[in-house]
Amino acid sequence: MTTLPVIDLSGDAPASVADRIDDACRRYGFFVVTGHGIDPSLLHRLEHAAREFFERPTVEKAAIAMPLAGTAWRGWFPAGDELTAGVPDGKEGIYFGEELPVDHPRVAAGVPLHGRNLFPAEPADLRPAVVGVMEQLTHLGHRLLSAMALGLGLDPDWFSRGLTAEPTVLFRIFHYPEAGTVDRARWGVAEHTDYGLLTILRQDDVGGLQVCIDEDGWDTWIDVPPVADAFVCNLGDMLERMTGGLYRSTRHRVVAPPRSRLSFPFFFDPSWDAVVEPIPGLGRSDAGECAADGTYGDYLTAKVARVFPHLWDDVGRRYSKGS
Ligand code: OGA
Ligand code: NI
Repeated sequence: MTTLPVIDLSGDAPASVADRIDDACRRYGFFVVTGHGIDPSLLHRLEHAAREFFERPTVEKAAIAMPLAGTAWRGWFPAGDELTAGVPDGKEGIYFGEELPVDHPRVAAGVPLHGRNLFPAEPADLRPAVVGVMEQLTHLGHRLLSAMALGLGLDPDWFSRGLTAEPTVLFRIFHYPEAGTVDRARWGVAEHTDYGLLTILRQDDVGGLQVCIDEDGWDTWIDVPPVADAFVCNLGDMLERMTGGLYRSTRHRVVAPPRSRLSFPFFFDPSWDAVVEPIPGLGRSDAGECAADGTYGDYLTAKVARVFPHLWDDVGRRYSKGS
């Protein structure tokens, strides 16, 4: 039975780390990293604060409900609200993004997914823990893409000079209640691929994440068991398209867990205004744009609209009228 490679970022020489990441990206589009340098005490604080938040009464959580953030698309949503492949997920969660002031040009223009985060008053530690972890994960995202650039025969700063000069970063905290507690939900998250470049995910010790890999020509779902102090990394659709399919954006899903589970996915994606194009010289790549709608921002907006259709009714209409 195949298991995903576990790569120690601090243990090996950079060239051999890049080789192992490159191999994992081609084979699975998934790998696990340790030795990543993210402060363990900060992660502990984050998990503790998140657990405390989800245990609070619904009225308290609703004080930071997503509709209150308007176009910024931030805040809490209840279980059953988010759709994957048109099916309600059995999870509740909080969405975060880059903290932007109201006078930022894209915030002022009402561009979706831009603005301020909604943080709960209590537990007060959630805010600094989220902000701190997002900052450290942004750094890790650059580092991993730099290793991938090496593996693809590019300069180590190939991504950070261009496509990810100002990365679009999204962070989410999900709570999957114990199986059977959420109406209509058959899955924690139904099978899907991620949209962007790279997802870096922290999960607690419950498990439930599964990945569909090719085993001797057969689609096979394997578990991604929790590894202490590790992050699970996977590639998104943009990186698959940019590499002409050399690197994979692999389908994955979450089974409804036997007990309450927390996960913390961080999405490290192209700059909002970037036009994503195939990486030259990789053979199979087609000419033209990878994000069919033009910029990465346009593409992402269209994707998110499908995940929260009822929110999009309010927010999207307002946005499309103004642009
Ligand atoms: C996602 C995802 C898995 C998890 O957010 O795209 O696949 O374990 N999450 O929460
Ligand atoms: Ni995913």
